[in-house]
Amino acid sequence: MKLSDAHWEPETALGRLGLEGQDLASHQAFWDRSAEIDAIRSIADQDDEESFESSGIADAEPMRPLLSPDSVFLEIGCGIGRVLQHVAPMCREVHGVDISAEMVKQGEERLRHLPSVHFWHGNGYDLELFEDDSFDLVYCGLVFQHMPKTTVYNQLVETYRTLKPEGVFRFQVPNILRNEQFDAFRYFTQPYFVHHPYPMHFYSPAEIVQLATKAGFWVEELDGDILVQARKREQAGVAPAIAERDDLSLLEGDTLIGLRERFNQRNERNRHLEQRVLELEEGLERIRRHPVVRTGRLLRNGLRRVRP
Ligand SMILES: C[S@@+](CC[C@H](N)C(=O)[O-])C[C@H]1O[C@@H](n2cnc3c(N)ncnc32)[C@H](O)[C@@H]1O
Repeated sequence: MKLSDAHWEPETALGRLGLEGQDLASHQAFWDRSAEIDAIRSIADQDDEESFESSGIADAEPMRPLLSPDSVFLEIGCGIGRVLQHVAPMCREVHGVDISAEMVKQGEERLRHLPSVHFWHGNGYDLELFEDDSFDLVYCGLVFQHMPKTTVYNQLVETYRTLKPEGVFRFQVPNILRNEQFDAFRYFTQPYFVHHPYPMHFYSPAEIVQLATKAGFWVEELDGDILVQARKREQAGVAPAIAERDDLSLLEGDTLIGLRERFNQRNERNRHLEQRVLELEEGLERIRRHPVVRTGRLLRNGLRRVRP
């Protein structure tokens, strides 16, 4: 039987929704429509309000050790505030940004009773609403998988910008190298999705390390479900325990290079460049101090003064 002989289609209206186009306006329309049909099911596929609440508590709890009563928190793609609601008592201010105006509207109504929670309608590709060095902790769960990879990279760069120094970014994406997540990937290979594309992207751990470190992050935790904890440090890189993993090799030229080797090479290159800049600066200073150059400068300044 040919693949195209299967005339299967998803059973529910939510499942049948697809993107009209690849631009971010189409992504917004997709999520607005999802929220109108059923926000709860479109977010966490939860059957009832109670499990929506308990899953929110479970997802918020790992944030507790990373927050203090004075902390400021941001969630990217906050939906109707399933997680925000439970993070609010852990810190001073809680912000959520989402591409869908409808999600934001429903979230504001749902969490009206929590004055420290602020919802924002964002443009879907950056964090222009927020100043540099604003947040202690940024979180993004069940969201990056729905954005184009190029947008995920923009959001990583913007998260780095808006985090305070030493601030933490926690996020998660599905791992295509895990069999159960490959089954989810296979679901979206059905011909139905050719004409009704569902916004869904899968990653390998190595891809995520590449994107996060290129955005400037120090990756300190990364598990098999690609739950990542990354920190804003001056130097990008990975914690030693991650660098040793042999599933994280990346292709450089036509050779697979492990992370430890890659970052050692990069640090060596940086040291070399820093040394070269230092030598050039010293050379320039020697030239500036040379008697001929100093005399020329004095003459030029003198001439400027006597010119009308
Ligand atoms: C599956 S829901 C998860 C909501 C929330 N993170 C949670 O766990 O309860 C995905 C959310 O991401 C939002 N979203 C999708 N693409 C986005 C983008 N490019 N920028 C911001 N939000 C986006 C959707 O509107 C939706 O609210």
